Amino acid sequence: MGMSIQAQKKIEELRKQILDHDHKYYVLADPVISDSEYDMLVKELEKLESENPDLITPDSPTQRVGKDLTKVFNPVQHKIPMLSLANTYSEEDLFDFDRRVKEGLPESETIRYVVELKIDGASVSIHYINGYLQSGATRGDGVIGEEITANVKTIKTVPLRLKIPSSRTYPINDIEVRGEIYMKIGDFLKLNKEREIAGEKLFANPRNSAAGTLKMQDPRIVSKRKLSMFAYSIVGNEEVVSSQSENLKLLSEFGFVVNPETKLCSDIHEALEFCRKLETKRESLPYEIDGAVIKVNSLKQQKILGNIAKSPRWAVAYKFKARQAFSRLNDITWQVGRTGTITPVAELEPVFLSGSTISRATLHNFDEIKRKDIRIGDKVILEKGGDVIPKIVGVVLKERDINSKPIVPPSKCPVCGSNLFKPEDEVALYCENSECPAQIRGRLEHFASRGAMDIEGLGEALINIFVDKGLLNTYDEIYNLKNHRKELIDIERLGAKSIDKLLNAIEKSKKQPFSKVLYALGIRYVGAGAAKKLASWFNSIDELISAPEEEILGIHEIGESISQSIKTFFSNVKNLQIIERLKSDGLVFKSEKKLLNKNVLLNKTFVLTGSLSELSREEAKDKIIALGGKVISSISKKTDYLVVGEKPGSKFDKAKALAIKIINEKEFIELLNE
Ligand code: IVH
Repeated sequence: MGMSIQAQKKIEELRKQILDHDHKYYVLADPVISDSEYDMLVKELEKLESENPDLITPDSPTQRVGKDLTKVFNPVQHKIPMLSLANTYSEEDLFDFDRRVKEGLPESETIRYVVELKIDGASVSIHYINGYLQSGATRGDGVIGEEITANVKTIKTVPLRLKIPSSRTYPINDIEVRGEIYMKIGDFLKLNKEREIAGEKLFANPRNSAAGTLKMQDPRIVSKRKLSMFAYSIVGNEEVVSSQSENLKLLSEFGFVVNPETKLCSDIHEALEFCRKLETKRESLPYEIDGAVIKVNSLKQQKILGNIAKSPRWAVAYKFKARQAFSRLNDITWQVGRTGTITPVAELEPVFLSGSTISRATLHNFDEIKRKDIRIGDKVILEKGGDVIPKIVGVVLKERDINSKPIVPPSKCPVCGSNLFKPEDEVALYCENSECPAQIRGRLEHFASRGAMDIEGLGEALINIFVDKGLLNTYDEIYNLKNHRKELIDIERLGAKSIDKLLNAIEKSKKQPFSKVLYALGIRYVGAGAAKKLASWFNSIDELISAPEEEILGIHEIGESISQSIKTFFSNVKNLQIIERLKSDGLVFKSEKKLLNKNVLLNKTFVLTGSLSELSREEAKDKIIALGGKVISSISKKTDYLVVGEKPGSKFDKAKALAIKIINEKEFIELLNE
């Protein structure tokens, strides 16, 4: 007993020490002991806890990293939706925002704004029950997110237990805190370097690496990735707290890290001035920001202003200008895509911009080169927008060298030497040889990609090797790789383990639904969206193959270039043979819908009135037609059903008079699913 009391005292003391060092290290960025001294404290605590397991508490620093894998990230509904911010790009936008705020509030109100940094990470919601961390969730679509509690707990700047502010009485039985989880630029660069050495796919930017890390199954890996959080709001506490600035203060009293670059401003001019100041600080911060956030300070005013669609009327993002860099255009190379498109690629003098070194940029097509008057040897201006791919936005003409060389498009395919052609209505050049190695590689890469067959591990590098070794050429040969297991293992650097993993991923891909398979086939212009529409219209690939072009063209949002391209694709015997082989490999070429469903509405006529909430008019029409029915515009005795949405028109009365069957949206959807 005495032993246990002693142990308890020691355990408590160690926890307090560790927490204190965590605070100094992570919050104040001012550590007072070395990493190894810190590790020793943790080890000692771990040892004592393992000897006295009943003394373990959920807020012990040893409880941050769980050992269980998160197999599924369960959906969670946010009690209050997680909104997104409308963007402003100019002073005018900002003054408009201020005007709308004023218009939305009684004239007597004094408006103040809090300006904060807009951290470029992933937003999370964390629940505390009676002061203890209960759960954490991603934003998801704003309404439903995913539960990532085990991963959130590993983040040292997220308290496992709230500190209770002594200065005030605040109910802590149920608290939801929101904030931004981010990765420091330095940690991101280090992580990418490690991934590069390990031959793994690189993260595009710190935001993606933070978001990707939060969705990992193993919290032990997450804990090594050094994520951090800035907390920016406590939601649903208007009764006890009256402003955003108070909320920020309270958050830091609770033990969260609140970003110090924040200011309470007395009008929009002061807010704008502070935003500009923040923009100049951007380069010196160790984390990425993509702007500032301006929020109405008073929570009461926020409530009056409310939201519009998915954004609050009381806050707005002030976006910073895209970062630019200069570089020299050393050369242009021509890349051949999977459909044969020849794209110019700018080979640049390497330059660092927004978290990565850029040495190449795409120029889309030759017209863009002409339009921007870009020449080899030019000093060019690069920009990185919201996405990763850098753009050449222009040339510094003043500094053009007399030796700069105009760019000439190739006359033959740079990969296979075949002739090129330029379709009349397009700007792009194409390689006419569908057996061009670049096209073969491109097609295979597309087929295996995430949005298509999703074969993990089968990326550019492996495809290049397999194509070079003559192991791969057409899609179906991917499913034959398992018969070459030994050969594959012998290939340099690949081992039995990674090959088996790959072969498993290949087998798994056989379960991909029809729409993904259709997309994977790489029919020109048939993107993921079109493939989905086609797959829900036709019950099988055979139906699509034999469909007249007019039927394809009749599908909502399927235009002529798509329908023609589909016809061309299936008129090629080689493609049909590949499909036959993929069929015998067991890929899904039928839609998930029961075949029976097809004609349930055969010859039934429908009239629609009022607006539907679940479906658009067009979608409703498509569905009726897909099931064999007809849609007409006015009621007659022959009409079978009138579908009424909200605010129906005069058709409603007419249908009643003619005793036509009237159904609401819910009944309509049930009918479709019968
Ligand atoms: S306020 C209700 N404050 O920006 C307004 N958001 O587009 C939204 N973000 O999903 C939350 N820093 O991930 C707020 N200081 C900050 C922020 C911030 C970054 C992110 C957040 C949100 C997105 C809004």
